[in-house]
Amino acid sequence: MQNLDKIYDFHNHIIYGVDDGSKTLENSIKMLQQAADQGITNVVCAPHQFEPITPSYLPKRQKNIVKRFNILKRSIKEKKIPIELLLGSEIMFFRDMKKYLSLPYFSINNNKKYILIEFSLMGAPISFVDIFYDLIMEGYQPILAHPERISGLYKDRNKLVKLLKMGVLFQINTGSILGLFGKQVQNISKKYLKNNWIHLLGSDAHSLNFQRGFSMQKCVEYISNNYHDINLKEILELNPKAVINGDHVEIDISDIKIRVKSPPNNLNKLINKIIKKAKKLL
Ligand SMILES: [Fe+2]
Repeated sequence: MQNLDKIYDFHNHIIYGVDDGSKTLENSIKMLQQAADQGITNVVCAPHQFEPITPSYLPKRQKNIVKRFNILKRSIKEKKIPIELLLGSEIMFFRDMKKYLSLPYFSINNNKKYILIEFSLMGAPISFVDIFYDLIMEGYQPILAHPERISGLYKDRNKLVKLLKMGVLFQINTGSILGLFGKQVQNISKKYLKNNWIHLLGSDAHSLNFQRGFSMQKCVEYISNNYHDINLKEILELNPKAVINGDHVEIDISDIKIRVKSPPNNLNKLINKIIKKAKKLL
């Protein structure tokens, strides 16, 4: 096991009563105790954000989220639970999302740079590479939440490579690696591990039960035992710290080998014609 000073859980829903995660303050405290028992030292809260029905909805919601975040922070300090809480959001992609990204804590740690974006699990938007490119041009650096859970996305390997080349980070769920979302998602997670395409890990915890709770400890053990090339210090401490501070995270793409089927160019077509003719003459 690698020596880890800190373990950041980068994605979870522990702010009570604001999404489909924890419902009460008491439950959130219990969940954070569960996290501390697993050695997690820093927790990045990422409440869901969806397209608002009215323009005033999200600013009001953010006030409530920040208030509850501060109450939770105070409560765990009183209970001496040794966890540092940080705040961000998990934004379900929607067309006008750029308008809202400067709202307080839409970005991770309110740094106005890194944004955690999720796509529907049914499939990514067709033009997601262009969408991310636009966001980067606006000065944001997207992090893609649990790409291993998005149906059919891994088949678009070339598009994923394009994202990596644009500096987009991939956050994988601990439960996906452990098979808690089924064999298919686990197999895809293993591909991300094999490719070294994991930049951040998150439990995506919604409750206390094992499938939707904090499953970091078992995941760290699993990776340590089976994937010796994975730098856990990087994905559990160094990358999260850099993201929180709004610093650059270097993505190693030197090993990426893409098989791109390029359409035959005119010269190839001509060579093929000559070969065919030559074969007929023989
Ligand atoms: Fe989530």
